[in-house]
Amino acid sequence: MSGKSNPNVRCVTCTAPVNIAVIKYWGKTDETRILPTNPSLSVTLGQDELRAKTSVAASSSFTEDRLWLNGIEQSISSPRIQNVLKEIRRRAHKRKSGDSKNDVVLTQHVHIVSENNFPTAAGLASSAAGYACLVFALGKLFGVHGEISDIARQGSGSACRSLYGGYVLWKMGSKEDGSDSHAVQVQPETHWPQMRSLILVVSDQKKHVGSTEGMQTTVQTSDLMEKRIKLVDKRTAEITKAINERDFPTFAKITMQESNQLHAVCLDTYPPIFYMTDTSRLIVRLVHAINDISGKVKVAYTFDAGPNACLYLLEEDVPRVLSLVRHFFPPSKDMKDSSFVTGLKLDEIKPLSGDISQINIPISEGAVKYVIHTNVGPGPQVLTDPKESLFTSEGKPRLTP
Ligand code: DP6
Repeated sequence: MSGKSNPNVRCVTCTAPVNIAVIKYWGKTDETRILPTNPSLSVTLGQDELRAKTSVAASSSFTEDRLWLNGIEQSISSPRIQNVLKEIRRRAHKRKSGDSKNDVVLTQHVHIVSENNFPTAAGLASSAAGYACLVFALGKLFGVHGEISDIARQGSGSACRSLYGGYVLWKMGSKEDGSDSHAVQVQPETHWPQMRSLILVVSDQKKHVGSTEGMQTTVQTSDLMEKRIKLVDKRTAEITKAINERDFPTFAKITMQESNQLHAVCLDTYPPIFYMTDTSRLIVRLVHAINDISGKVKVAYTFDAGPNACLYLLEEDVPRVLSLVRHFFPPSKDMKDSSFVTGLKLDEIKPLSGDISQINIPISEGAVKYVIHTNVGPGPQVLTDPKESLFTSEGKPRLTP
């Protein structure tokens, strides 16, 4: 626990990862409980590159629950945050320890400070990491143990998958109260050590239609959606097998087909929703071109509710793929060359002239703003060093602009 200097403030600081789905969640059967129309499966990414960090504090001196997000105080009255807080407190009451020192926290208000190490709302699953981190930290503060991914689900559906590392399935469940709609780990992060991800950040602007609203309109208006829902179980079983067997070509093919189908149902929504841009489509063409000239599926793309691409590939192919990304999407002149690729270190190579001559796509300078190179990572972590706390030792939010 951090923030020990003020004995009246109990404080916990945690981090939680981003996850990027390979079987997509898009559609709810219950908007309040956040129950999905289909199961989904994701890969949890490394936290050094992408993570949410949240400190939660409880004190008898706090007169109301409060929340600061990326340095700015936010209203805490949103139904989703309220549902999460209510449910954590309900479970904490059920599990009262009988130790008055621990149980006193149940009657206290909480202050929450959260920040991301990447742009919010850029289609980089910031709400997933944020809610997973909030629920994990509150669970530690209130002494709630066991399955809590169903609580994170009530904050943002995809958040339930960020409570585990590695490869994670969100089981849709069948109970009306949603108690069996939670995440399970399919394989830990250590299962497939060669797996890497390159996030191609196309835009860090806010997306034009949020996922919550977008998926609601899709469920209401898309005919294709019915067909998709019938397919998802089979795809989930196939990709699970591919992950278990470390079969990259099958994993990659299903990942790309799933992404394409998500964006097809978005286009079939009325009015249509467009998340992918011209640059996103050029990235799709580049990936297929690389796979074609390799005679083998070497790299996969997936897109969520925004134009950024998440590429999955194996470690041995990163230098070659990155050299081609750099060749066809060179950084703009005002961007320092050395800051174009961030994250895991690697020795970059020059693109092979044989590769370039076989790939017929235009060169788009500045279309990819930067690239994040990361791997598959663990679930949420507790940070015990008080210096990591987002509260000062007096229990005040430490706000970084
Ligand atoms: C395209 O979890 O953000 O990223 O439950 O309404 O908060 P709400 O939606 P959200 O949707 C994420 C959709 C997606 C696909 C996925 O992550 O599976």
